[in-house]
Formats: sequence, C-alpha cells, structure tokens
Amino acid sequence: MLAIYRKYRPKLLGDLLGQEDIVAVLKNAAKKNKLAHAYLFSGPRGTGKTTAARLIAKIANCITRAEKPAFHSTGEPCNKCARCQAIDQGRALDVIEIDAASNRGIDEIRDLQESVRLSPTSFPYKVFIIDEAHMLTGPAFNALLKTLEEPPAHAIFILATTEYEKIPATISSRSQKYRFRKLAINDIINKLKKIVAAEKLKIDGDALELIAAAAEGSLRDAESLLDQITSLEEGVTVEAVEKIIGKTGALLTGQLAGLILTSDLPKTLDTLAKINDQGYNLVDLTKELIHYFRRAISLKSDPELENVFKRELTTKELEQLKKHSELIDLHKHVPLLRSLIRAYSEMRYSPFAIVPLEIALIENLVKK
Ligand SMILES: Nc1ncnc2c1ncn2[C@@H]1O[C@H](COP(=O)(O)OP(=O)(O)O)[C@@H](O)[C@H]1O
Ligand SMILES: [Mg+2]
Ligand SMILES: [Zn+2]
Repeated sequence: MLAIYRKYRPKLLGDLLGQEDIVAVLKNAAKKNKLAHAYLFSGPRGTGKTTAARLIAKIANCITRAEKPAFHSTGEPCNKCARCQAIDQGRALDVIEIDAASNRGIDEIRDLQESVRLSPTSFPYKVFIIDEAHMLTGPAFNALLKTLEEPPAHAIFILATTEYEKIPATISSRSQKYRFRKLAINDIINKLKKIVAAEKLKIDGDALELIAAAAEGSLRDAESLLDQITSLEEGVTVEAVEKIIGKTGALLTGQLAGLILTSDLPKTLDTLAKINDQGYNLVDLTKELIHYFRRAISLKSDPELENVFKRELTTKELEQLKKHSELIDLHKHVPLLRSLIRAYSEMRYSPFAIVPLEIALIENLVKK
C-alpha cells in the first residue's frame, strides 16, 4: 500500500496548502514561460518543498502545456501526458533527485556537473532537485556555484533545505528564493479530513485534531501519524492517539493550567498525580505547560497575538487559552514560567521526574 503522504502529494500548484504567495508567483512564471534556472526552497520539513520542485519539473516538461495554449494558461502541469506521468512515477531520466545528506562531497558534485553539461535525454529540460542542500561540503558548494554561474539553457536547479542559514550567500544570491511556511492547524485538519473520507477510515474528530496539533505545522508528519495510527486499530480515539504520540493533549494541559491559574494547590497536585498514574510522560507534560503559559502570558501582554496562535491551535484550544490569559497576573506567572523551565531541565536528568515539577508548583502556589 502506498503511504498516505505519497498518495496525497498535491498534483497541482493550486493544491499546495498554506503557501499562497509562492504558488501565485510560480503559477505566473509558468503562464509566462519564465521559470528560473535556479530555485532555493527553504522551510520546515513537510511543508511542500519537494512537492513544489516536482511540480516545476512537470510544468517545464509537460507535453500538453507545450501543445495546447488554452491549457498552458492555467500555469499547471496536466498530470496525464507521458512526461508528467514519468515524473510522478520517479522514472524520468531527466529529473534527477539528489539527497545531499548522503552525496555531499566534491565527487558527487563533479558527476553532477558532468550530467548538467549533457543535454537532456528526452525532455526539453533537465531538472536537478538537490534535497537537504545545506549538507553539501564546502568544495561541493564551490563546484555547484560554478555551475550556477553559467547554467546551460536546458538546466533547472532546485535546492531544498530546512536550514537556510547554512547555504552560502554566493549560492542563494544566484537563486530565486522561497520560504515555505509551517501549515496552519486548520489547513492540516481539513486535509486530514479529506483523506479520512477518501480512505473510509474510522477516527473521531478530536483524535484528528490531536494528530494535526502534534504535527506542529508539518503536513507530512500529520499524514504519517495518521497512517501509523489507523493501521493499528479500528475506530481511533483521542486516548489511543495520546498514547502513541506520547503527548498529553492540549486540552489536558489546559485543564491543569486552569487549576494552576486558580492557585488551587491541592487540586493541582491531585490532578498531576493522576496524570502521572495514567502513564503520561511528565517531561513532555512540563514542556506543554511551558508552551501553554508562554502563550497565555504573551496573549495577556498583546491580544493581537491571537492571530498567530490561531495558526497553531484548534478552535477549542484557542478559546480555552483566551479565557486563561485573562487570569494571568504577570507578577505571579512570569516567575511561575521561569520555575517550570528550571523544573524541565532538572527533571530530564532526574530519576524522579515528578519531583521537580511538584516543587515548582508548590513554590509558586503556596500563599506567601
Ligand atoms: N503545502 C502542502 N500542501 C499539501 N500537502 C502537503 C504540503 N506540504 C506537504 N504536504 C504533504 O506532505 C508530503 C510531503 O511533502 P514534501 O513536499 O515532501 O515536504 P518537504 O519537501 O517540504 O519536506 C506531500 O506528499 C503531501 O502529502
Ligand atoms: Mg523534501
Ligand atoms: Zn503533462
């Protein structure tokens, strides 16, 4: 069975979610036949870099685009012609994907230089997709630079990286640069819903939201998690997902945060003990709490931040966070956040993970 993330790779620029600005520019270039010779795609994993690179390879070579002006003006590949299909199936000789993480040396780039000089075997354009480009060695970058300085007319380079800062300026200045963004949680949820419907999977809505939240903006991670979770059992529930991702759901974190915010020490400790009994990872819980209070405190200080958090949180989580941020007292809760951060670093090396967290809570919640 084809992995979900491969089966649902967008086939059109228009299907690429969350990268509207990039899509608009690329489509326009496609319509005007103004594709660049070198692109640099940067951004977090699972946001569409490889997908966009393959779309460019198809757009540059699509037969239907070349033959039908009406279709050409859509700025999209047809996905039906022999070349589009060869590229989709990964058997196009003129689309060369290189994983720089395992081919990082000068020899590999020399081979590449050699290949760049040769004309394409059967396509109009030879497209070189260099993934994890930041892993190339210094000499390899230099060799690549020579190629980018005078690329033959038939060559298109697409460098993809999760670490933009590690790409030498000489390389990036010769490329069209696009920064891919993390996906908003709602975009992730919506795509997961479509996949669930198409695959007739059984999974409840809250579980889906938890998967989307755990993916932290990476659609590939969300799709892989969905794959992993639905292959395990029938009718997936929130509890099952929480167990698998080893993460306390944001709602549970929020519940605990709510008790802390009302300074109810006995109830807070009681709930913590229960969470511990249920086998949740307390180090992760503390990390979640830190994120939670960081957001609540920021929101209290600047209500405009709601627009940022909207991208990362489900509607329910955002509502809860907003209510809690109203209870924030900066004099009390900034020190609490500091204690939690200290507890987090202590508990990672402690054989009693719960103790540093309990102490942090007691220190902050006892009436002074
Ligand atoms: N922006 C996006 N829109 C829709 N699906 C996406 C997007 N980004 C990633 N995906 C999904 O995740 C999979 C992996 O994406 P990919 O383009 O390989 O990510 P990257 O190269 O940025 O790590 C795709 O096959 C697709 O299913
Ligand atoms: Mg990739
Ligand atoms: Zn085509």
